[in-house]
Amino acid sequence: MPKIAIMLSGRGTNMVALARRIASGDLDADIRLVGSDRPDAEGLARAEALSLPTLVLPYREKGKDEAEGLLLEHLEKKGVEWVVLAGFMRILSPRVISRFRDRIVNIHPALLPAFPGTEAIASAWNYGVKVTGVTIHLVDEEMDHGPILAQRCVPIDEGQTLEELEERIHEVEHDIYWRTLKDLFAGRYKKEGRRMKLDRT
Ligand code: GAR
Repeated sequence: MPKIAIMLSGRGTNMVALARRIASGDLDADIRLVGSDRPDAEGLARAEALSLPTLVLPYREKGKDEAEGLLLEHLEKKGVEWVVLAGFMRILSPRVISRFRDRIVNIHPALLPAFPGTEAIASAWNYGVKVTGVTIHLVDEEMDHGPILAQRCVPIDEGQTLEELEERIHEVEHDIYWRTLKDLFAGRYKKEGRRMKLDRT
């Protein structure tokens, strides 16, 4: 069974959605760790309520180098094979990325390469695009840049509020993430350059 760590900085709704799919047997994975750079992240409390092991990384007190050192130590110790970013708002350094090359996955609330970075949903809404969406991708050294595993469109309707769009995006995120991880963990993706080909047979 794939051993995973989930990293978050905020509410943790994606982490909960994944944990539910694992509990129901839809996704075969073992959550060995839920890590956060923020001790006050709502997602950490949610993980604890689900009896998942949590880890706070001391980014603020000790800086990125030490925080990542601690992260790597725990990932090794717990035998983690895949790192699943779910609203983790820090850029991982090449040291972590090379240690888990093509084994770090991220979810982004827009159709990359459009609207990278933070506040992607609001940026798309304010820009006035008619279609936005969700992207799942492997993490490389550049921000919101790695090979794309899956994308799903979300149309923006006339008169739709930003809050309504946010709600719809999260709904889509909670459905697309576990499905993509299931294919990835089952080895159904083949890498060709930066193109990820999904074998659906
Ligand atoms: C999600 O919308 C995720 O796509 C986004 O943070 C949110 C976390 O929500 N990630 C990024 O913007 C990464 N650039 P959650 O804490 O409720 O899962």
